[in-house]
Amino acid sequence: MKSTLNSYSRRIPVKLANNPYEVVIGGSGLLGISQELSKAGYTKGIKILIVSNEDVAKHYGESLVKCLEEAGYKTTLLIIKAGENHKNPKTIGLIHDAAYKAKLERGSLMIALGGGVVGDMTGFAASTWLRGIAVVQVPTTLLAMVDAAIGGKTGVNHFGGKNLIGAFHQPKLVLIDPKTLLTLPDREFRAGMSEVIKYGVIGDKTLFNLLEETPCISKISEISNNLLEQILEKSVSAKAKVVELDESESGLRAILNYGHTFGHVIEKLCGYGNWLHGEAVSMGMVAVGQLALELGSWGKESQIRQRNLISKTSLPTKWPELDSESVIKALEGDKKVINEAIRFIIPTEIGHVEIRDDITKKKIRSFLEILN
Ligand code: NAD
Ligand code: GLY
Repeated sequence: MKSTLNSYSRRIPVKLANNPYEVVIGGSGLLGISQELSKAGYTKGIKILIVSNEDVAKHYGESLVKCLEEAGYKTTLLIIKAGENHKNPKTIGLIHDAAYKAKLERGSLMIALGGGVVGDMTGFAASTWLRGIAVVQVPTTLLAMVDAAIGGKTGVNHFGGKNLIGAFHQPKLVLIDPKTLLTLPDREFRAGMSEVIKYGVIGDKTLFNLLEETPCISKISEISNNLLEQILEKSVSAKAKVVELDESESGLRAILNYGHTFGHVIEKLCGYGNWLHGEAVSMGMVAVGQLALELGSWGKESQIRQRNLISKTSLPTKWPELDSESVIKALEGDKKVINEAIRFIIPTEIGHVEIRDDITKKKIRSFLEILN
């Protein structure tokens, strides 16, 4: 990223009837949090539990606590262990213990400072503490900025599958400081780019074309400010639009799971944390792209364009060696199974997908034999 995006500021509303909020991108960034909290109705004096992990807190924990304390908020910082394999009920217990020690009340607030793992768990802990207290999301990975922090899906993994324990709990505010991406490892940045590519394939051809035309999109250091701004704005707007139309995933919102059906299988069968979530999603998009070709849903040219973009981003395109029956079993354990039918989001062209519940297990078995 060639400068610090100091002057850039954008506010994107998430217009939900009962839970409206704003996604603030840029502006005064992390250090502007107290003004944003007071705009959202959280005045000084309230108790705040910030949840973060060791990787993120070492860069931003102290400064966040300092600016909240200076503005008169009573702040506690809890640092949890980093990584997908700590995304489990035991860690939720630790957050609840910290909430108890900090004497959080119904009017108190939790702030998630971190990637999707911290965000999903803090959101879930907030949704269950005192039957639900407010949460603010401060995402620090590209993936969390464009996806996880927005839309209110919270939860943890169960040994039976990904995010099987969870709740919808919308944040009161999402504050994105793009400068935090400067400390994010390149591999994590690429993993976030996977969800950006997803938005291109499911509904925004212009975003897909933009990514396709840009020589390098796999490193923050090589991305221009202008491109990063467009990526953040287009992705956040796309997510907000879908969530506004279908907050609790009774229909349309399922399209956001494009690439996730196979992606969740990889995460589970290869061991949580071995493949990053975004890497598993990109492999999931490649796999479902190939399935779509087999089904005649889209053409070879679109399938190759998607695969090439994922490959250019240095994201995985080679299906891992997995036993087909274990894959079927894992697919059957997914949250998206409806009346025993495995749900797939199938692309029909770049910029459009459809929700399919009619793909038989026989078809999936024979597809897995040729998947490479
Ligand atoms: P993550 O939260 O594990 O973060 C990735 C790594 O980067 C971690 O090691 C973290 O400590 C480190 N990190 C984070 N920000 C950093 C920074 N600015 N500088 C240095 N290091 C930093 O992974 P993720 O990709 O952000 O999120 C993946 C999770 O999000 C998965 O559990 C997935 O299920 C979930 N998710 C949820 C939704 C949703 O709608 N709720 C959507 C997509 C993904
Ligand atoms: N990340 C999928 C969703 O929010 O619905």
